[in-house]
Amino acid sequence: MDLINKIVSSVVPTMPKYLVMKVASRYIAGQTLNEVITTVKKLNSLGAITTIDLLGEHSDDKQHAIEASETYIEILNTIKKHNLDSNVSLKPTHMGLTNGPEFCIELIEKIVKHAKELGNFVRIDMEDSPFTDDTLDMFYSLKEKYDNVGIVIQSYLRRTLSDASKLAKSRANVRVCKGIYREDHKIAYHNREIIINNFGLILRELLSRGCYVGIATHCEQTVWEALRIIHELKLEPQQYEFQMLLGVAEDLRKIILDAGHRLRVYVPYGEEWYPYSIRRLKENPKISEYVIKDFLGMKSS
Ligand code: FDA
Repeated sequence: MDLINKIVSSVVPTMPKYLVMKVASRYIAGQTLNEVITTVKKLNSLGAITTIDLLGEHSDDKQHAIEASETYIEILNTIKKHNLDSNVSLKPTHMGLTNGPEFCIELIEKIVKHAKELGNFVRIDMEDSPFTDDTLDMFYSLKEKYDNVGIVIQSYLRRTLSDASKLAKSRANVRVCKGIYREDHKIAYHNREIIINNFGLILRELLSRGCYVGIATHCEQTVWEALRIIHELKLEPQQYEFQMLLGVAEDLRKIILDAGHRLRVYVPYGEEWYPYSIRRLKENPKISEYVIKDFLGMKSS
């Protein structure tokens, strides 16, 4: 599998864009808000709730960040207009964090304030470690004024258990995930078992202290660990939700929904679909195998 991963990692970025789009279309709702509406309506009809993400990151150009923030306002209005069961997720660097936290928080606050007026909720995604402190600081400062904002923490970071204790004190609404960026061993666990066990510890810390938690994973072992904690703490389904990315682990998604748990699908869309799609393909060698076979004109089994 390691060899396949290495091959896939080197081949995927060289593939023609049309082919990437063909396969990546299962991971993104499309490039327009109209396409998002269709995807969200379909997921809602299957019993899943959603969070909409406008694709993009590292808006070093301030105007780009401002335009992205305005699109989030439009997304929130669209959710209201079409009565969709969805909130929104955004990335701080997409909202201009590389231009400084003062600039970024101003844009995020406008979105959170608008969401509050519409009875909706904003999740601030967590990016790589150079942005962790600023992202948490912005979250704490927004949380003083608004109750409709949530944060994300990553179980691969060594600091996260202590961040979870602090977040638990303020009864924050937290998404827990493993973490998707490459981080140095000095600050991050690299061992899969430790990352899963730490995920469990973090969940227990947050859930046992009354936080609403989004349990973001497609990994059956992690889902089982979460279910064990939910069972031990005798939690009701309205005290937590599972979360998965669009197009990933749809079988497990159905199992979780059928068992009566809330499940939210992360629905990314937008013109900046290409970098996101390349990441998805690199992370799922099975799909990439299909792409490569298709690319070479071979039939997939
Ligand atoms: P694991 O990596 O073991 O995956 C289990 C299986 O699911 C894999 O074998 C693979 O087949 C499939 N799979 C998993 N991830 C996939 C993917 N991305 N594309 C295709 N197939 C995939 N990270 C972060 O750093 N900051 C964030 O804000 C978020 N936000 C977030 C929201 C939601 C709703 C989810 C589900 C995930 C995130 N993540 C994230 C990503 C997260 O940190 C993590 O990298 C992935 O979820 C993979 O970890 P799993 O627990 O799913 O297990």
